[in-house]
Parts: sequence; C-alpha cells; structure tokens
Amino acid sequence: MGKRTEIVDVLKAPQIGATITVKGWVRAFRSNRFVALNDGSTFNTVQVVIDPDKIDEETVKRIGFHACIAATGELVESKGSGQAVELMADTIEILGDTDLSEYPLQAKKQSMEFLREKAHFRMRTNTFSAVFRIRHGVAFAINKYFNDKGYYYMHTPIITGSDAEGAGEMFRITTFEPNNAPTAEDGSIDYSQDFFGKATNITVSGQLQAEIGALSLGKVYTFGPTFRAEKSNTSRHLAEFWMIEPEIAFADIYDDMDLAEDFSKYIINYILENYPDDLAFLDKRIQDMEKNMKKELRRPMSLIDTLKFVIDNDFARITYTEAIDILKRSKPYKKGKFEFPVDWGIDLQAEHERWLVEKHFKKPVIVRDYPKDIKAFYMRMNDDEKTVAAMDVLFPGIGEVIGGSQREERLEKLRKRMQEMNVHEDELQWYLDLRRFGGAPHAGFGLGFERIILFITGMANIRDVIPFPRTPGNAEF
Ligand code: 4AD
Ligand code: MG
Repeated sequence: MGKRTEIVDVLKAPQIGATITVKGWVRAFRSNRFVALNDGSTFNTVQVVIDPDKIDEETVKRIGFHACIAATGELVESKGSGQAVELMADTIEILGDTDLSEYPLQAKKQSMEFLREKAHFRMRTNTFSAVFRIRHGVAFAINKYFNDKGYYYMHTPIITGSDAEGAGEMFRITTFEPNNAPTAEDGSIDYSQDFFGKATNITVSGQLQAEIGALSLGKVYTFGPTFRAEKSNTSRHLAEFWMIEPEIAFADIYDDMDLAEDFSKYIINYILENYPDDLAFLDKRIQDMEKNMKKELRRPMSLIDTLKFVIDNDFARITYTEAIDILKRSKPYKKGKFEFPVDWGIDLQAEHERWLVEKHFKKPVIVRDYPKDIKAFYMRMNDDEKTVAAMDVLFPGIGEVIGGSQREERLEKLRKRMQEMNVHEDELQWYLDLRRFGGAPHAGFGLGFERIILFITGMANIRDVIPFPRTPGNAEF
C-alpha cells in the first residue's frame, strides 16, 4: 500500500504531476466517473476520476455511498469547474464496502432525529463532521486561552461526596446490588459499608475543588465531564455535558465578568479564524433551511455575521433587579405572552433570557446580583443582604451559556448560608478550612461547553453537538 497523503494536504499544497494515494469515504459518485472523497482531515473533498479503461467494472460497482476506498494516481489540474485539482486513479482499492440495501444513511437530506439514532455513522455527513471538527477547535482554543494567560489545568474528581450546586440532581455511585443493600437501624441504606465508605455521586461541578486550586496556584481551570440527573428534556440540556470552570484568587465579580466576556470572544474568534470552511458550510445550511420560513422565524443575521457581531460589541451588563424591571415593561409581559411569571425573587426562564438578549439588547447580556434564595450557598452575599454576587452570561438563541459568581470568603457568612440552605458542614469541612486558613477573595464561572458550540455552529439541538448524547431515556452507544 502506498503512503497515504491526507486530503487537507493534497488541497493545501497540491503537488501537480506527483503520484499519490488518498484514502477516505465516498461522499458522492457522479456519472460512474467522479468520486468526491473525504477523509475527515478537512471539510473539503478531493475529486478522484475513474477511467473505465484503468479500473475494472467490478471495482467501480463497489464505489458506493460512504464506502471506504484508497485511490492511487497522478494529481492533475482539474479540467472541470468546482475544484482546482483532481486525482486520475490508476488503481482503486476497496477498503470497506457499504451494502446500500442495508446501510441506514442515504445520499440525500435526512432528519436530525434519524441521524441521532445512527450516531455511529452521522459523523460522516457534512453537517456533523463540520460540527465535530469545530468542537475540537473550541476545546483547543479553551486550553490555549488559559495556558497563554498562565492558568493551570486542574483535574477535579468525577466521583465525589458533595453536591456543589445543592440542587440534588445527582447520579449515585454505588457497588450495592439494588435489591440487596445493607440498611442501618432506621431502615435507610448504610453507605458506610459501600465501596467508598460513604454515599457518593458523579460530579455536577468541579468548582468546589477548583477553589482549592485557586487558593494555592492563583489561577486554575477545570475542563471535564459533568453529570446532572435533571429531567429537563429540552434542546439545551444534557444529563452528561462538559464544563469549563476557571477559578481565580484576588478577583471579584467584575473581574469575573470581564474574564467571561474576553474568554467567550476569544473562542468565537478562534473558530472564525481557523475553521472557515466548516463555518461557511454551516452558515449556508441554515440559510437554505430558512429560505421557506416566515421572516420572523429566520435568524436576524447569518451565522457568521452573528459571530462577528458578538466579537465586535460589548456585552450588555445589568443587574437582576434591572432585568425584572425591563421585563415588566416589555410587550410580551403586558400582553401575557410569557409562559412563566416575572417577579422579583423568581428565577429568569429561558424565554425571559432570550427576550432580553434577542429583542431588547440585541446582543449578549450579563445579568448579575441575583436574589440569594435562587442561587447556590457558596455565592458571596452583597451588602443589601438580599442579593448575591452571581452572574449569568446570556447568548442569543440559547439563553444561559455561563454561570458564575464571586465566592463567599467570609467564614461566618458562609456558615450561615450553609445552615439556611441545609448544606451539611461535616461534609464540607475542607471547604470551610479554605476560609479559616489563608483565605482570599476569589471568583469563577462555569461555561457549558456544548452550549457555546451550539451558538458557534448554529445547530438547533444540544444533542447534535456532542457525539453521543445522554438525555432522559437515552444512553445509546
Ligand atoms: O450555572 P451552573 O449550574 O454553574 C455551576 O455549576 C457553577 N459551579 C459554575 C462555577 O461557578 N464554577 O452551570 C454552568 C453552565 C451553565 O451556564 C450552562 O451553560 C451549563 O453549565 N449547563 C448545562 N449544559 C448542558 N446541559 C445541562 N444540563 C447543563 N446545566 C448547566
Ligand atoms: Mg446557572
């Protein structure tokens, strides 16, 4: 077998006249003569030309949709329009047939729902290969951003005894048999006999441990899988998602907001600069879909223009109290169009967030200083004793993409909040210790990895930006 040249290199620096071998999956085969071949190294395909005098009929028959082939031949300037170069095949080797009578995918548009069920093949499509190349790019940009700024990547545990968010949406980890767990005298399950000698779950956030890092190394971030057993069957929620959580010492809520804005813009810009072909395809895909839609259902701006707009404009910054005032003066509120109530003290719902972002400010919005009762125990109490130094970053089309806060560094105030919110001190002694010994003001946030990818790719459902989505009732693959 000849040495393989990746298609990205064939197209970037074409060696006209050279004999090369490319390997990949057939995206299209026109007129029994022109193969569009893709190997994943780039969005683009290379055209392989089949000469019936050189390639036997049996082999040509096997060049089916998504079959895997190796083609060897001379690279020449293309005579046809649409591509600069093409490969005149001397030999074709079939590496993997696809029996089209059984292969689930077809060379035509198929629904996202159908492709989700065929997640082992959907990455071969233009849409999903573009999404997953960009997903890699976002991950890389995140690590690069923090590394360049002197943050340390910290691995926080997946298995933990704590419920950082206090929302009780945890998946239990146990080695007990469901029907045969030892019980204590009061009939409750006796986790002291379990593997870890205590009740454990898979983490909902790495923040509490990241605080340990911030109060030692100064600036850290986590980037790992996060698990939430919330029964939210929406296009924005996953039971297993990835979260990025920077945590910084000597920072307050304003530093936190500045970081969130700079960081989001950096990621978006990185993708604009490094994934233009994938983005252009996703942009055109949306425009094609919107052609037959009513104007009010279409995006106000194309995908790429939206991304550029976000980079070029300051995010709006308001307090929760201001957000409630604005919402109460809004048309949909006055006309009773919101499904959920708007009142000081009640959490904002996605419909409110999206109205603020899309209709009112028409750009990303950072809302801060939320009522203490709707936020987690660790957030720093403001002087009004009613609100905490929390902030959410809201994006068009999505709503909350980032949630963060300045942390309560004052021991007594933290203990009081823990008591009020029923967070047991004995399980978080180490967390209190951080306030007793060498404490410092600090802040951080969590970025939902899939949510920013949704925004950047313009995909409509969060299940389509993670390779194998886990949602209520679904853990295939
Ligand atoms: O707002 P959240 O719950 O914040 C925290 O977990 C903090 N401990 C973060 C911190 O301060 N270090 O979650 C952070 C982000 C949300 O803004 C959202 O983008 C994403 O995580 N997120 C989800 N993404 C997908 N599916 C879910 N079920 C999500 N829940 C939260
Ligand atoms: Mg949140």
